[in-house]
Amino acid sequence: MADYWKKINENGKKRILVTRSIPGRKWLDILISAGCSVEIYDTHHLVPRKELIRKIGSKCDGVIGQLDEDWDEELFAKLAQAGGKAFSNYAVGYDNVDLEAATRHGIIACNTPGVLTGATAELGIALSFAAARNIVCGDNYVRKGKFHGWLPKLFLGKLMQRRTLGVIGAGRIGGAYARRMVSGFKMDFLYHNRTRNDNLENYLNNYNTFLKENNEEPVVFKKADNMEELLRKADLIAIFVSLNKDTHHLINTSSLKMMKRDAVLINVSRGAVIDEEALVEHCQNNSDFRCGLDVYEDEPKLKEGLDQLTNVVLTPHLGSGTFESRTNMSILAARNLLAVLNGYKPKGREDIKIFVGDNPPDYIPAPLNAG
Ligand code: DGY
Repeated sequence: MADYWKKINENGKKRILVTRSIPGRKWLDILISAGCSVEIYDTHHLVPRKELIRKIGSKCDGVIGQLDEDWDEELFAKLAQAGGKAFSNYAVGYDNVDLEAATRHGIIACNTPGVLTGATAELGIALSFAAARNIVCGDNYVRKGKFHGWLPKLFLGKLMQRRTLGVIGAGRIGGAYARRMVSGFKMDFLYHNRTRNDNLENYLNNYNTFLKENNEEPVVFKKADNMEELLRKADLIAIFVSLNKDTHHLINTSSLKMMKRDAVLINVSRGAVIDEEALVEHCQNNSDFRCGLDVYEDEPKLKEGLDQLTNVVLTPHLGSGTFESRTNMSILAARNLLAVLNGYKPKGREDIKIFVGDNPPDYIPAPLNAG
């Protein structure tokens, strides 16, 4: 088998594995100057599980892992046996991490919130309009030489301005998306969330003051009474919930039926929040329905028929995919590891961005199972 592992600072005292090549250089300098040896699986492939277990070996202090690896009992047990104390998930989503297993084995798991919020919200916006305005079909049409001149009925899309937006999961990223969409396109707004998002509502109240001062109609917004209200009323539905047993197949045949015939649905959270087979069937039977997906139920595989649908736009899990976000995720992942290995404690989650600067405070930036 090819040896993809790249070793850096081999004599470092603490041994860190990084299961895929990640962007930037600062994260590596941080680990090296803290006396770590770093081994990076330097290829685009997933590390085979057996290889990962072999590589953890008898001494491994911490791992920076990826969202498509299943960090379960077996891996945490192995890491703990090797003296490991820290696992840093290179993602904000952590449905791939068994936190109870990590805790059982005395390992602190961390994630990378706060540094990818804007990037993921922007990708959500890009997908919303790509789906609503036939961007991909239009692009194919032009490339194939089919564009022979302006036509009044060519690829008519859906106007978002003053329509109703429904956001499922109005937390950090969903809230950022909602702010941009509502204040950018004057959309009425419903959200479904466990708790009221007071910051978001204050922001929208201020936005309405601005609209009124400019003699414009205010937008109407509220936390939806229930999911059904949102599904029935929204023209554009955007999903930002994390995946767990309560959100698995949250969108299924019956919820799809509640949506408007010509609704636009986008998902930049995790694929299995949508029953993808049901979605394919719904899109096949409702040509006016539009959908933009960045994530898939059996990622990277697609359910049969999905790639044949012209009312669906597909991107390859690019939510956080800007250079800035991904390099900051790298730094945060390294800071998480070192903070745990240094024995720091957690302390709130105020402004995560201070951890990507040069003088981070002495606490763990984003622990998931400590404190
Ligand atoms: C995350 O961080 O969870 C995103 O899905 C990565 O794009």
